[in-house]
Amino acid sequence: MDLSDLTRDLAALRDEAVLSIEAASDVAALEAIELDVLGKKGRLTGVLRGIGGLPAEDRPRVGAVANIVRAALEGAIAARGGDLRGAALDARLRTEAIDVTTPGRPIRRGSLHPINETIREIADIFGQFGFVTYEGPEVEDDLTNFQMLNIAPDHPARDLWDTLYVDIDGQLLRTHTSPGQIRVMTSTAPPIRALLPGRCYRYEAIDASHASEFFQVEGLMVDEGTTMADLKGLLDQFAKALYGADKRTRFRPGYYPFTEPSVAFDVECLVCGGSGCPACSRSGWMTILGAGMVHPVVLQYGGLDPERYQGFAFGMGVERIANLRHSVGDLRLYMENDLRFLDQFVAAGRVEAAR
Ligand code: PHE
Repeated sequence: MDLSDLTRDLAALRDEAVLSIEAASDVAALEAIELDVLGKKGRLTGVLRGIGGLPAEDRPRVGAVANIVRAALEGAIAARGGDLRGAALDARLRTEAIDVTTPGRPIRRGSLHPINETIREIADIFGQFGFVTYEGPEVEDDLTNFQMLNIAPDHPARDLWDTLYVDIDGQLLRTHTSPGQIRVMTSTAPPIRALLPGRCYRYEAIDASHASEFFQVEGLMVDEGTTMADLKGLLDQFAKALYGADKRTRFRPGYYPFTEPSVAFDVECLVCGGSGCPACSRSGWMTILGAGMVHPVVLQYGGLDPERYQGFAFGMGVERIANLRHSVGDLRLYMENDLRFLDQFVAAGRVEAAR
Protein backbone atom coordinates (compact mmCIF):
# COMPACT_ATOMS: atom_id res chain seq x y z
CA MET A 1 0.00 0.00 0.00
CA ASP A 2 1.61 3.26 -1.11
CA LEU A 3 0.50 6.86 -1.43
CA SER A 4 -1.11 6.46 -4.84
CA ASP A 5 -3.08 3.36 -3.73
CA LEU A 6 -4.53 5.30 -0.84
CA THR A 7 -5.44 8.41 -2.84
CA ARG A 8 -7.03 6.18 -5.48
CA ASP A 9 -9.10 4.38 -2.81
CA LEU A 10 -10.18 7.74 -1.37
CA ALA A 11 -11.25 8.97 -4.83
CA ALA A 12 -13.18 5.74 -5.47
CA LEU A 13 -14.89 6.01 -2.08
CA ARG A 14 -15.85 9.62 -2.85
CA ASP A 15 -17.29 8.80 -6.30
CA GLU A 16 -19.31 5.84 -5.05
CA ALA A 17 -20.56 7.72 -1.98
CA VAL A 18 -21.62 10.76 -4.03
CA LEU A 19 -23.71 8.50 -6.30
CA SER A 20 -25.52 6.85 -3.38
CA ILE A 21 -26.01 10.24 -1.66
CA GLU A 22 -27.67 11.61 -4.77
CA ALA A 23 -29.84 8.48 -5.01
CA ALA A 24 -30.98 8.62 -1.37
CA SER A 25 -34.80 8.61 -1.49
CA ASP A 26 -35.50 10.13 1.92
CA VAL A 27 -33.85 11.76 4.93
CA ALA A 28 -33.57 8.46 6.85
CA ALA A 29 -31.74 6.76 3.97
CA LEU A 30 -29.41 9.76 3.71
CA GLU A 31 -28.61 9.59 7.42
CA ALA A 32 -27.80 5.88 7.06
CA ILE A 33 -25.34 6.65 4.23
CA GLU A 34 -23.72 9.43 6.27
CA LEU A 35 -23.16 7.04 9.16
CA ASP A 36 -21.82 4.32 6.82
CA VAL A 37 -19.32 6.62 5.07
CA LEU A 38 -18.36 9.37 7.55
CA GLY A 39 -19.19 7.71 10.89
CA LYS A 40 -16.55 6.82 13.50
CA LYS A 41 -16.45 3.23 12.26
CA GLY A 42 -17.30 4.27 8.69
CA ARG A 43 -15.63 3.56 5.41
CA LEU A 44 -13.52 6.76 5.29
CA THR A 45 -11.92 5.85 8.59
CA GLY A 46 -11.44 2.34 7.25
CA VAL A 47 -9.43 3.59 4.26
CA LEU A 48 -7.36 5.90 6.46
CA ARG A 49 -6.25 2.97 8.57
CA GLY A 50 -3.80 2.20 5.74
CA ILE A 51 -1.99 5.49 6.55
CA GLY A 52 0.08 3.70 9.21
CA GLY A 53 1.95 1.75 6.50
CA LEU A 54 3.10 4.91 4.71
CA PRO A 55 6.42 6.69 5.11
CA ALA A 56 6.09 9.58 7.58
CA GLU A 57 6.60 12.27 4.87
CA ASP A 58 3.61 10.97 2.84
CA ARG A 59 1.12 10.94 5.69
CA PRO A 60 0.24 14.66 5.67
CA ARG A 61 -0.59 14.50 1.96
CA VAL A 62 -3.01 11.64 2.49
CA GLY A 63 -4.49 13.55 5.42
CA ALA A 64 -5.00 16.59 3.15
CA VAL A 65 -6.73 14.46 0.46
CA ALA A 66 -8.91 12.79 3.11
CA ASN A 67 -10.01 16.21 4.38
CA ILE A 68 -10.96 17.29 0.83
CA VAL A 69 -12.96 14.06 0.36
CA ARG A 70 -14.71 14.51 3.74
CA ALA A 71 -15.60 18.12 2.89
CA ALA A 72 -16.93 17.09 -0.54
CA LEU A 73 -19.10 14.35 0.96
CA GLU A 74 -20.41 16.61 3.71
CA GLY A 75 -21.34 19.17 1.07
CA ALA A 76 -23.13 16.53 -1.02
CA ILE A 77 -25.04 15.27 2.06
CA ALA A 78 -26.08 18.78 3.04
CA ALA A 79 -27.29 19.55 -0.49
CA ARG A 80 -29.25 16.28 -0.82
CA GLY A 81 -30.68 16.73 2.69
CA GLY A 82 -31.91 20.22 1.77
CA ASP A 83 -33.59 18.87 -1.36
CA LEU A 84 -35.24 15.98 0.49
CA ARG A 85 -36.49 18.19 3.35
CA GLY A 86 -37.85 20.72 0.86
CA ALA A 87 -39.68 18.00 -1.05
CA ALA A 88 -41.13 16.56 2.18
CA LEU A 89 -42.36 20.01 3.22
CA ASP A 90 -43.93 20.57 -0.20
CA ALA A 91 -45.74 17.24 0.02
CA ARG A 92 -47.01 18.03 3.54
CA LEU A 93 -48.21 21.45 2.51
CA ARG A 94 -50.05 19.91 -0.42
CA THR A 95 -51.88 17.32 1.70
CA GLU A 96 -52.59 19.74 4.57
CA ALA A 97 -53.76 22.53 2.31
CA ILE A 98 -56.93 24.27 3.59
CA ASP A 99 -59.50 25.49 1.13
CA VAL A 100 -60.60 28.70 2.78
CA THR A 101 -63.50 29.00 0.34
CA THR A 102 -65.17 25.77 1.63
CA PRO A 103 -68.45 26.62 3.39
CA GLY A 104 -68.23 26.24 7.20
CA ARG A 105 -69.89 23.40 9.05
CA PRO A 106 -73.10 24.62 10.67
CA ILE A 107 -72.95 24.99 14.46
CA ARG A 108 -76.15 23.81 16.16
CA ARG A 109 -77.48 26.50 18.42
CA GLY A 110 -79.60 25.70 21.41
CA SER A 111 -82.75 27.66 22.09
CA LEU A 112 -85.08 28.40 24.94
CA HIS A 113 -87.80 25.83 25.48
CA PRO A 114 -91.12 27.40 24.44
CA ILE A 115 -92.34 27.11 28.04
CA ASN A 116 -89.28 28.92 29.35
CA GLU A 117 -89.54 31.53 26.64
CA THR A 118 -93.20 32.12 27.54
CA ILE A 119 -92.39 32.40 31.27
CA ARG A 120 -89.73 35.01 30.48
CA GLU A 121 -92.13 36.96 28.32
CA ILE A 122 -94.72 36.95 31.13
CA ALA A 123 -92.07 37.95 33.70
CA ASP A 124 -90.88 40.75 31.39
CA ILE A 125 -94.38 42.21 31.17
CA PHE A 126 -95.10 42.03 34.91
CA GLY A 127 -91.55 43.20 35.59
CA GLN A 128 -92.51 46.51 34.00
CA PHE A 129 -95.19 46.81 36.68
CA GLY A 130 -92.63 46.22 39.42
CA PHE A 131 -93.25 42.49 39.97
CA VAL A 132 -90.19 40.60 41.20
CA THR A 133 -89.77 36.92 40.32
CA TYR A 134 -89.42 34.33 43.12
CA GLU A 135 -89.41 30.55 43.09
CA GLY A 136 -90.98 28.19 45.61
CA PRO A 137 -90.21 24.48 46.15
CA GLU A 138 -91.83 21.79 44.00
CA VAL A 139 -92.07 19.45 46.99
CA GLU A 140 -94.43 21.26 49.33
CA ASP A 141 -96.07 20.44 52.62
CA ASP A 142 -99.77 19.87 52.94
CA LEU A 143 -100.10 22.93 55.15
CA THR A 144 -98.75 25.40 52.59
CA ASN A 145 -100.22 23.80 49.48
CA PHE A 146 -103.72 23.47 50.97
CA GLN A 147 -104.56 24.44 54.55
CA MET A 148 -103.04 27.91 54.63
CA LEU A 149 -104.77 28.59 51.31
CA ASN A 150 -108.10 27.98 53.00
CA ILE A 151 -108.55 24.64 51.31
CA ALA A 152 -110.32 22.49 53.89
CA PRO A 153 -109.14 18.90 54.52
CA ASP A 154 -112.21 17.53 52.73
CA HIS A 155 -111.96 19.90 49.76
CA PRO A 156 -112.24 18.00 46.43
CA ALA A 157 -108.94 19.49 45.19
CA ARG A 158 -107.18 17.36 47.82
CA ASP A 159 -108.64 14.16 46.48
CA LEU A 160 -106.16 11.33 46.17
CA TRP A 161 -106.86 11.35 42.46
CA ASP A 162 -105.59 14.88 41.98
CA THR A 163 -102.58 15.09 44.26
CA LEU A 164 -99.29 13.24 44.03
CA TYR A 165 -97.98 12.54 47.54
CA VAL A 166 -94.33 12.04 48.45
CA ASP A 167 -93.42 9.16 50.73
CA ILE A 168 -92.42 11.51 53.54
CA ASP A 169 -94.82 12.77 56.21
CA GLY A 170 -97.16 15.45 54.94
CA GLN A 171 -95.12 16.14 51.80
CA LEU A 172 -96.60 16.35 48.33
CA LEU A 173 -95.82 17.65 44.87
CA ARG A 174 -97.38 21.09 44.70
CA THR A 175 -100.62 21.04 42.72
CA HIS A 176 -100.39 24.76 41.91
CA THR A 177 -98.01 27.71 42.47
CA SER A 178 -100.35 29.31 45.03
CA PRO A 179 -98.38 28.02 48.08
CA GLY A 180 -95.79 30.53 46.89
CA GLN A 181 -98.22 33.25 48.05
CA ILE A 182 -97.84 32.02 51.63
CA ARG A 183 -94.06 31.74 51.33
CA VAL A 184 -93.75 35.30 50.01
CA MET A 185 -96.14 36.77 52.60
CA THR A 186 -94.34 35.09 55.49
CA SER A 187 -90.90 36.20 54.33
CA THR A 188 -91.49 39.66 52.82
CA ALA A 189 -93.05 42.80 54.24
CA PRO A 190 -95.66 44.68 52.15
CA PRO A 191 -95.78 46.28 49.67
CA ILE A 192 -95.47 42.95 47.85
CA ARG A 193 -95.42 42.50 44.12
CA ALA A 194 -94.32 38.94 43.45
CA LEU A 195 -94.32 36.67 40.42
CA LEU A 196 -93.89 32.93 41.02
CA PRO A 197 -93.35 30.74 37.98
CA GLY A 198 -92.86 27.01 38.41
CA ARG A 199 -93.62 23.39 37.66
CA CYS A 200 -96.72 21.83 39.19
CA TYR A 201 -97.96 18.26 39.38
CA ARG A 202 -101.33 16.54 39.36
CA TYR A 203 -102.45 12.96 39.20
CA GLU A 204 -103.97 12.94 35.71
CA ALA A 205 -104.69 10.52 32.88
CA ILE A 206 -102.45 12.05 30.22
CA ASP A 207 -103.84 13.11 26.85
CA ALA A 208 -103.54 16.05 24.47
CA SER A 209 -105.07 18.45 26.99
CA HIS A 210 -104.11 16.84 30.35
CA ALA A 211 -100.60 16.52 31.73
CA SER A 212 -99.36 15.34 35.11
CA GLU A 213 -96.63 18.00 34.96
CA PHE A 214 -97.33 21.55 33.87
CA PHE A 215 -96.24 25.08 34.57
CA GLN A 216 -98.04 27.96 36.23
CA VAL A 217 -97.16 31.57 36.87
CA GLU A 218 -98.60 32.96 40.09
CA GLY A 219 -98.88 36.66 40.82
CA LEU A 220 -99.38 38.31 44.19
CA MET A 221 -99.76 41.93 45.13
CA VAL A 222 -100.34 43.04 48.75
CA ASP A 223 -100.42 46.60 50.00
CA GLU A 224 -102.59 49.00 51.95
CA GLY A 225 -105.64 49.87 49.88
CA THR A 226 -105.12 47.40 47.04
CA THR A 227 -108.42 46.96 45.21
CA MET A 228 -110.14 44.87 42.58
CA ALA A 229 -109.73 47.82 40.21
CA ASP A 230 -105.95 47.44 40.47
CA LEU A 231 -106.29 43.76 39.58
CA LYS A 232 -108.56 44.47 36.62
CA GLY A 233 -106.35 47.23 35.23
CA LEU A 234 -103.18 45.17 35.59
CA LEU A 235 -104.56 42.02 33.94
CA ASP A 236 -106.06 44.04 31.07
CA GLN A 237 -102.66 45.63 30.44
CA PHE A 238 -101.00 42.22 30.64
CA ALA A 239 -103.33 40.68 28.03
CA LYS A 240 -102.83 43.63 25.69
CA ALA A 241 -99.03 43.46 26.06
CA LEU A 242 -99.06 39.71 25.38
CA TYR A 243 -101.62 39.45 22.59
CA GLY A 244 -102.02 42.97 21.15
CA ALA A 245 -103.35 46.35 22.23
CA ASP A 246 -106.58 45.84 20.31
CA LYS A 247 -107.63 42.73 22.27
CA ARG A 248 -110.76 43.00 24.40
CA THR A 249 -110.84 41.34 27.81
CA ARG A 250 -113.53 40.49 30.35
CA PHE A 251 -113.91 39.24 33.91
CA ARG A 252 -116.40 36.59 34.95
CA PRO A 253 -117.28 35.41 38.45
CA GLY A 254 -115.25 32.41 39.53
CA TYR A 255 -114.49 30.41 42.65
CA TYR A 256 -111.26 29.65 44.49
CA PRO A 257 -111.08 28.93 48.23
CA PHE A 258 -108.15 31.34 48.66
CA THR A 259 -109.61 34.39 46.91
CA GLU A 260 -112.82 36.32 47.60
CA PRO A 261 -114.24 37.51 45.32
CA SER A 262 -112.79 35.24 42.63
CA VAL A 263 -112.81 35.80 38.89
CA ALA A 264 -111.98 34.10 35.62
CA PHE A 265 -110.19 36.36 33.16
CA ASP A 266 -110.96 36.01 29.44
CA VAL A 267 -109.37 37.50 26.33
CA GLU A 268 -111.24 37.71 23.06
CA CYS A 269 -110.66 34.57 20.98
CA LEU A 270 -107.30 34.83 19.24
CA VAL A 271 -108.47 32.53 16.44
CA CYS A 272 -111.80 34.07 15.41
CA GLY A 273 -111.52 37.51 16.97
CA GLY A 274 -114.71 37.06 18.98
CA SER A 275 -117.23 35.87 16.39
CA GLY A 276 -117.18 32.28 17.69
CA CYS A 277 -115.27 29.23 16.41
CA PRO A 278 -114.38 25.68 17.53
CA ALA A 279 -111.25 26.96 19.35
CA CYS A 280 -113.36 29.03 21.76
CA SER A 281 -116.33 26.65 21.87
CA ARG A 282 -118.24 29.30 19.87
CA SER A 283 -118.19 31.70 22.83
CA GLY A 284 -115.79 34.22 21.27
CA TRP A 285 -113.70 34.22 24.47
CA MET A 286 -110.75 32.30 25.84
CA THR A 287 -110.06 32.00 29.57
CA ILE A 288 -106.37 32.63 30.29
CA LEU A 289 -106.23 32.75 34.08
CA GLY A 290 -107.94 32.65 37.45
CA ALA A 291 -107.66 35.48 39.97
CA GLY A 292 -109.26 37.26 42.88
CA MET A 293 -108.77 39.30 46.05
CA VAL A 294 -106.65 37.40 48.58
CA HIS A 295 -109.00 35.88 51.16
CA PRO A 296 -108.62 37.54 54.61
CA VAL A 297 -107.94 34.13 56.16
CA VAL A 298 -105.04 33.61 53.73
CA LEU A 299 -103.62 37.04 54.61
CA GLN A 300 -103.74 36.00 58.25
CA TYR A 301 -101.98 32.71 57.53
CA GLY A 302 -99.39 34.84 55.75
CA GLY A 303 -98.90 36.82 58.95
CA LEU A 304 -100.61 39.97 57.66
CA ASP A 305 -103.44 41.96 59.23
CA PRO A 306 -106.41 41.91 56.81
CA GLU A 307 -107.75 45.13 58.41
CA ARG A 308 -104.61 46.91 57.22
CA TYR A 309 -103.61 45.04 54.06
CA GLN A 310 -105.49 43.93 50.99
CA GLY A 311 -104.14 41.97 48.08
CA PHE A 312 -104.93 40.23 44.86
CA ALA A 313 -103.57 37.06 43.33
CA PHE A 314 -103.74 35.46 39.94
CA GLY A 315 -102.57 32.18 38.47
CA MET A 316 -102.19 31.13 34.86
CA GLY A 317 -101.26 27.94 33.06
CA VAL A 318 -98.11 28.56 31.01
CA GLU A 319 -98.85 25.81 28.47
CA ARG A 320 -102.17 27.39 27.68
CA ILE A 321 -100.54 30.79 27.08
CA ALA A 322 -97.80 29.14 24.96
CA ASN A 323 -100.42 27.15 22.98
CA LEU A 324 -102.15 30.36 22.02
CA ARG A 325 -98.87 32.10 21.12
CA HIS A 326 -97.50 29.28 19.00
CA SER A 327 -100.67 27.38 17.92
CA VAL A 328 -99.56 24.17 19.63
CA GLY A 329 -102.44 21.70 19.97
CA ASP A 330 -101.00 18.94 22.16
CA LEU A 331 -99.61 19.43 25.69
CA ARG A 332 -97.47 16.31 25.46
CA LEU A 333 -95.18 18.00 22.92
CA TYR A 334 -93.78 20.24 25.66
CA MET A 335 -92.51 17.31 27.72
CA GLU A 336 -91.20 14.97 25.02
CA ASN A 337 -88.13 17.09 24.12
CA ASP A 338 -88.36 16.05 20.47
CA LEU A 339 -85.85 18.26 18.63
CA ARG A 340 -88.10 18.39 15.58
CA PHE A 341 -90.59 20.23 17.79
CA LEU A 342 -88.11 22.30 19.81
CA ASP A 343 -86.08 23.44 16.77
CA GLN A 344 -89.09 25.41 15.57
CA PHE A 345 -88.54 27.83 18.44
CA VAL A 346 -84.87 28.57 17.70
CA ALA A 347 -85.68 32.00 16.33
CA ALA A 348 -87.56 32.98 19.47
CA GLY A 349 -84.64 31.75 21.56
CA ARG A 350 -82.22 33.84 19.51
CA VAL A 351 -84.17 37.01 20.16
CA GLU A 352 -84.12 36.21 23.87
CA ALA A 353 -80.42 35.38 23.91
CA ALA A 354 -79.58 38.64 22.13
CA ARG A 355 -81.22 40.78 24.81
N1 PHE B 1 -104.15 28.20 41.92
C1 PHE B 1 -105.26 28.32 41.02
C2 PHE B 1 -105.27 27.10 40.10
O1 PHE B 1 -104.40 26.29 40.16
C3 PHE B 1 -105.16 29.57 40.18
C4 PHE B 1 -105.33 30.84 41.01
C5 PHE B 1 -104.23 31.47 41.53
C6 PHE B 1 -106.57 31.40 41.22
C7 PHE B 1 -104.37 32.65 42.25
C8 PHE B 1 -106.73 32.56 41.96
C9 PHE B 1 -105.61 33.18 42.48
O2 PHE B 1 -106.18 26.94 39.27
